[in-house]
Amino acid sequence: MRHFHIPLLAFATFLVPAGGFAAPEAPPPEYRRAIPVSGEAAVRLRLEMRQYLIGVKKIVDAAGANDMKRVAEAAREINRAAEHPMPEGFHAALPDPFLQLAVATQAGFAEMAVQAENGGDGRTALVHLGRVMSHCVSCHVTYRLEVMEDASEETPGGPPGESAPSRPERFGA
Ligand code: HEC
Repeated sequence: MRHFHIPLLAFATFLVPAGGFAAPEAPPPEYRRAIPVSGEAAVRLRLEMRQYLIGVKKIVDAAGANDMKRVAEAAREINRAAEHPMPEGFHAALPDPFLQLAVATQAGFAEMAVQAENGGDGRTALVHLGRVMSHCVSCHVTYRLEVMEDASEETPGGPPGESAPSRPERFGA
């Protein structure tokens, strides 16, 4: 008859969390630096990011199949996703290290496309992807977006009258 207790035990295990019935943990601390953006800029940047993720998945699939034509296509798609227009003032408000990571990411995918078209194999592409993705990781651990109602009205680049430092035209360009 002992087996009757097994489902009951399994159910009880499911109910009791590993640490017992302790009070819920405090949320993890937020160390990321906030980048103030308009709601529209946040929606557009997140859309672009999801396109990056789709592109990365395509690269992994194609590299696994050693289909280098598709690796190149997917890498170029990521480059194109970064060319979508962003609201006025968005790029000027971005910190320089953020822009540098964005530029390095795009350069990495451009280089991957060239390698794939010039005799690189799937394994080389995956090793390269790992290196490029360290930029995805660095940026994500460092920055977060903070939607400001009036972010688009702000004068980025310093106090009025001071000229904004020169920046790449668009995210990742
Ligand atoms: C220069 C900085 C930067 C780089 C490089 C970067 N991201 Fe992001 N990513 C962000 C920021 C900022 C967010 C928004 C985080 C937040 O919600 O506060 C984000 C969000 C995302 C999201 C969530 C989108 C959503 O719908 O909320 C995905 C997925 C993502 N990134 C994928 C990637 C991938 C894959 C790469 C590399 C190929 C990458 N990102 C490179 C800055 C970056």
